[in-house]
Amino acid sequence: MKNYYIETYGCQMNVADSELVASIMEENGYGKIDTVESADAVFLNTCAIREHAEEKIHSRLGVLRKEKEKRPHMILGLMGCMAQHVKDDILESKPYVDFVLGPDSYRRIPDILRRHEQKNESIVDTRLSRFEVYSGMYPSRNEGINAWISIMRGCDKFCTFCIVPFTRGRERSRSVKDIIQEVRRAVDDGFVEVTLLGQNVNSFRHRGERFPDLLQAVAEVSGVQRVRFTSPHPQDIDDDMLFVMRDNANLCKSIHLPLQAGSDRILKRMNRTYSQAEFLALVSRIRDLLPGCGLTTDIIVGFPGETREEFDETLQVMEKIKFDSAFTFKYSPRPGTKATEYSDHVSESEKQARLESLITVQKRHTLFRNRREISEIVKVMVEKESKKSSDVWAGRTDTNKWVLFAKKTTQVKQMVNVRITDAHGVTLFGELVSDPRRFHAVA
Ligand code: 5AD
Ligand code: SF4
Repeated sequence: MKNYYIETYGCQMNVADSELVASIMEENGYGKIDTVESADAVFLNTCAIREHAEEKIHSRLGVLRKEKEKRPHMILGLMGCMAQHVKDDILESKPYVDFVLGPDSYRRIPDILRRHEQKNESIVDTRLSRFEVYSGMYPSRNEGINAWISIMRGCDKFCTFCIVPFTRGRERSRSVKDIIQEVRRAVDDGFVEVTLLGQNVNSFRHRGERFPDLLQAVAEVSGVQRVRFTSPHPQDIDDDMLFVMRDNANLCKSIHLPLQAGSDRILKRMNRTYSQAEFLALVSRIRDLLPGCGLTTDIIVGFPGETREEFDETLQVMEKIKFDSAFTFKYSPRPGTKATEYSDHVSESEKQARLESLITVQKRHTLFRNRREISEIVKVMVEKESKKSSDVWAGRTDTNKWVLFAKKTTQVKQMVNVRITDAHGVTLFGELVSDPRRFHAVA
């Protein structure tokens, strides 16, 4: 039997796509293995969001080239966003790559494998589709707590810094029926949590059904203990979505809300479609309707033309909101995007300085938010043993924070009550308590 090996870079969408490709390979007689050294087919599922992500792949390909020299029959495939971005150009410098597959080409893998076997020449397939959502295919998942469920693909927002609309093409959604079927099957396979995925997850729309309708339908699938989703766009969050989250206990109270920048001029240049005031109003609305909801964000520093004063506005917005955590990035020019045409680029040293001050502020906010949880009793899903001790569990709160606590008699996949006792860095610490409601009933 032949073996395949997939290495995944970038976002959760890529994780989900790798699971899809895994199932395609398995249906075509390949077995999964975890090392390159004895694999007959090696895939790199790549990311192109920042320059650094692409550089990593180039150097990884350099290493894999040596492996291919040792074992020339090994198939080497590049898939995902960088593959879509570089297309056949990559073959000029790296002719040893066998396949270059864009995110909409995976259904054709069996055919591509056959063609390659017959001709033994490199194949580039980077056609983007307006319709491909991989309906009716069931990913081959690793066992665990959470199943990633891709519900829509592509992005039509065209933020001026972002390469995604070019690498993943136009927005399209799966049918609610197809998604619910997959959720049911994931529950049957033992998953207790699902995370709905899409580049703009809440722009989901299928024949008149919108994201809140889908959320409601997923929440009602029996056996689904927790539902998460990522990443939403602020523009597409409405009260309906928040009401559905409020009214269903298994919809986790945590929202990733990418701010990107605080200044109105920069937001406009980024084509983010909201102003600072609108973003702040949205945060208040979320906190009114979903008290205690976890809020995380993405922020880019040093977007072309961003002045020191405009950057300070980002810090001011952060100070007002105090996110639970933030992913922070230095702007990285992506060829083909609108922002590369802007003239006044910020220097690398200035970007670095801004990034560092942002990280310092966010660390303070994370600790502020986490320390507010101390002495609260929160619901935690037991997920895995802590890395530090086999006597300690690690689990996540509804608001997507990791908590460490002594094991006692609990087991993985159990939902337990934990009293938070401390907070350090990004982690909460706690102790198991008996369910206060059950305790009440007995009393
Ligand atoms: N440079 C830096 N960060 C970027 N992101 C997207 N494109 C770029 C870029 N060109 C960030 C955004 C987005 C996250 C996934 O990556 O913050 O929300
Ligand atoms: Fe990129 Fe903006 Fe689309 Fe997100 S919404 S994928 S940042 S273009």
